[in-house]
Parts: sequence; C-alpha cells; structure tokens
Amino acid sequence: MTTPAELALTCTDLTQPELAHLQRLLGSWSVLADLSFSDLLLAVPTTSIPGEEPELVVIGQIRPNNRPTLLEQDLVGQTVLRSGWALAAAALERGEVVRGAVHHPLIGESVPVENVPVRFGDSVIAVMVRVYSRAVATPISMYEKNYFDVFGRLLQMICAAEFPFPEEDVGTEETPRVGDGFVLVDADGRVEFASPNAINAFHRMGVYSTPEGHKLTELGIEASAVQWALAARHPVVEEVERRPDVIVLVQCIPLLENRVPTGAVILMRDVTDVRRLDRLLLSKDAAIREVHHRVKNNLQTISSLLSLQARRLDSADGKAALYEAERRVRSIAVVHEILSRDPGDQVPFGEIVGSLVRMAEDSVVSTRPVEFSVEGDVGEVTADVATPLAVALAEILQNAVEHAFDRPASGAGPSASSTPSPGHVRLTLSNGRKGISATVRDDGRGLDPAFDIERTTSLGLSIVRDLVVSQLGGSITMGAAEGGGTLVEIRLPPDAH
Ligand SMILES: Nc1ncnc2c1ncn2[C@@H]1O[C@H](COP(=O)(O)OP(=O)(O)OP(=O)(O)O)[C@@H](O)[C@H]1O
Ligand SMILES: [Mg+2]
Repeated sequence: MTTPAELALTCTDLTQPELAHLQRLLGSWSVLADLSFSDLLLAVPTTSIPGEEPELVVIGQIRPNNRPTLLEQDLVGQTVLRSGWALAAAALERGEVVRGAVHHPLIGESVPVENVPVRFGDSVIAVMVRVYSRAVATPISMYEKNYFDVFGRLLQMICAAEFPFPEEDVGTEETPRVGDGFVLVDADGRVEFASPNAINAFHRMGVYSTPEGHKLTELGIEASAVQWALAARHPVVEEVERRPDVIVLVQCIPLLENRVPTGAVILMRDVTDVRRLDRLLLSKDAAIREVHHRVKNNLQTISSLLSLQARRLDSADGKAALYEAERRVRSIAVVHEILSRDPGDQVPFGEIVGSLVRMAEDSVVSTRPVEFSVEGDVGEVTADVATPLAVALAEILQNAVEHAFDRPASGAGPSASSTPSPGHVRLTLSNGRKGISATVRDDGRGLDPAFDIERTTSLGLSIVRDLVVSQLGGSITMGAAEGGGTLVEIRLPPDAH
C-alpha cells in the first residue's frame, strides 16, 4: 500500500511542512468523518506537466464509524483530472468551500458533496472532499444538530489554517471517537450539549445531575483538560480516574475563530476495562516473578536441609551423596533466581553460566588451584532449555573439579607437588544456525582408557545423558582433549530453544 507521504513525494510539489500539515489532518480527521456522517477524501494537485491537463491525486480516505459508507472502493493513490472534479478544483482555486452534487454511479442518483480548501499558511494546499447521503443532510435529533454545528466550525478552521493543530500528536488507536461520548462546551468550559453516550459515561463516573450549563469541575469531574485546551488553544488528552474503578479517557479539542477559542469539543471514552486488563497483565508478570522467587527459596531450603543432614552423617559415602544432591538442587535454583529477576519465556543464559562457574570455583577442595574461563555466549534460551542445560553443565564442571586435578597431571614431574601449577577449565559456548554448542575442556589427568560415556552407569553422567539426549534431543561426546585432559562437548539442535 502506498502511504500519503510516498504519494506526495512522487507526484506532488508539496513541501515537507505542507506534507506534515496534511499528515496531521489525516491523523485527526476521524472526528470530522463521524461528526458529519460522511466519507472524506483528501486530494492534492499533482505536479503540473506542460501540455497535459492538471490532475489531483487522492492521498487519504476515511469512512464514518456511525453510518454506512458511500465509497466502498479504495481511492487512495488514484489520480483524477481537475476538470473531472470541477467542484474540488474550484474550491482549490477560490480558497472557499464549494458545495454541489455529483452523480454516484452505484447508487444511480446524485449525492451531495462539500469541497473544503485546506489552507496552510497563506496557500491552499489540498482539498477535502466530503461525500454524504441526502438522508443525513438534514439533522433530526439534537445530537445530529450539534454534530453538524461542530463540524461546520471545524471546517472553517481547516479553511483558516487553524485545523489540524500545529505540532499535534497524531491520534493513537486509543483516542476516543465521537461515538464514545461527545460533549460540547462554550468558551468558559460550560457544557452546552452532551450526547447520550457521554451521559452514560458521566453516570459511570457517578455524575447524575444535568450537565448542561455546568463546568466539568462543578459536576465533580476533576478534568483539567478543558481549561488547558481553551487556554493553550491546543488539543489536550487526559485520563480521569473517578472512584478507584472507573477510568475515562478525555480528549478536548478547542474550537477557534481567528485564533480565539469559542468553545471546545470533549470526546470521552470509558477505558476502565482496557486499564484493568493492563493492570492484570502487569500483576501477572509480577506473580510469575514471585513464583520463581519462591521456587528458588524453596530449593535453597531443600539444599540447606540436605547439607544439615550430611553434616550429621558418619558415613563418608553418605555425606558425599548428600552434598552432591545439595549441589544439584542449587544448580536448579540458579535458573529460578535468574527467572525471578527477568520473567518471560527467554532467559539470558550468560548470567546462569556466571553462577554455575562460581559454584564450581567454590567447590574446589584439591590442593591444586583451578582457573576457570568462559568464551562465547548462547544468548537467550527458553526456560525449558535453560534448566536442563544448566544442570548438565554444572555436572560437567563439577567433574572437572573433582576428577581432573585430584592428582598431578601426567608428566608434571615431582616438582608439581611443592608448587602446584593451576589447572585450567575452559567453557566455550556458541549458538548459531546449527544450534547450541557447549564444550568444557580441562588440562587435567584425562579419562581412564576404559571409560565410555555410552556405558557409564555412574549417577552424574547418567543425569547429564538423560538431560541432553532424552530431554533436549541433543548429543554429548567425551574424549581426550588435544594436549592432554578431557573434552566434553554438548550439542543441541536449533529447535531445542
Ligand atoms: N574431567 C574429567 N577428568 C577425568 N575424569 C573424569 C572427568 N569427568 C568424568 N570423569 C570420570 O568419569 C567418571 C564418571 O563421572 P560421573 O560424573 O558420572 O560420576 P562421579 O563424578 O564419579 O560421581 P557423581 O555421581 O557424584 O557425579 C568419574 O568417576 C571420573 O572417573
Ligand atoms: Mg560427577
């Protein structure tokens, strides 16, 4: 789809400030379509080509929210001869509103049109074409009369370069529309008319007295938007909270005549449900955080209980088993700790790695110091991958601490015992098209020649195998590292995270 800016740049002579003015009009003209129950088109003269008939290009189109459209086809981007749209061309040339009727091919009869020159500074830069049905031409109800009255005043503002407002923020999805609730106030801010939906909004705010003749503040609605809009001669949007459970979005558009405010339109929309949903979502986030926090606390309690129990045992094997269990529980707690800070599907795995390495460093008991290093990163992974991967890496790091350096590395010679040189454990991580790869390399004593990861029945590596192969659908290999020591490599397929 072509944007108004692209159209304007390719086929018109509009300057940047003129284009910005028209874009502000397009951003705020839903109120015009609704107040006039009309389809609106915005047309701009195209760059003139010598010898060719001058044209207009349609750069914007909007349909009313409260009436069926008369223009079912999308006209944006279409060019028409000026002579074909004679009324629009006349409005452009004369700089005044030109009314008339055009034949509507689908309806088969003529429909009224109103062509409004859009002025910016001293020049007319575009024409806004209003197309409407004869049925809406004569207002019957009070609210229709008021809608038309305000529409007429806004038209004059467009002709006088007073609408759209300079620097106006273009309306968001949320800004109220006319049908949500419409109030007309005079230059003092006293209500002249309130539409039935506006009266409903007043009721929800606890205001039951007749609003006509009163300022909103006199009715008990603490909205400063009206005062601000009238004083600043600029639209103001404000969220008004009445009682804790009702929130109404108020947009006040001042009506000007020769830069002097003659009144204002207030559009109001009950956004209580929207805000309640926002708050629920926010509190859901907080709840998830809290749950992770509690899981982490519970895991820490379990790990403390295990270590208390271990201390009371006499059997060395029993002690070791409980300490191992305690350590495994702690490595799961690490993941929940990170999730409690940053809830969501994705976990920054780098932070978890940092904690795992610190845990491994703390568990070094051999006389030989061990230096850890981490290279690379896997970025963010889902919580489903983070927990098993964290537990698996904790096991492998722990194995390096426990088994690689428990006696001097072969070939280190007798002097190693007096001033033990440090052992090294390097964790390398990467995440790419082929998936995640994590390798742990140590320069320790290496694996026993008979060792085979596929056959080992010891608990630590059985856990790792189960997590990596069965849970994550990955693979693990263990073998001799180049230059001595052990190399463990975990690979996870790309769809694991
Ligand atoms: N980095 C390593 N260097 C040397 N040997 C290793 C290394 N990692 C593992 N091993 C050998 O593999 C064996 C199996 O390891 P595994 O983790 O399954 O059991 P464990 O560490 O002995 O006991 P636990 O169940 O407490 O982990 C170890 O006993 C050790 O002999
Ligand atoms: Mg182990």
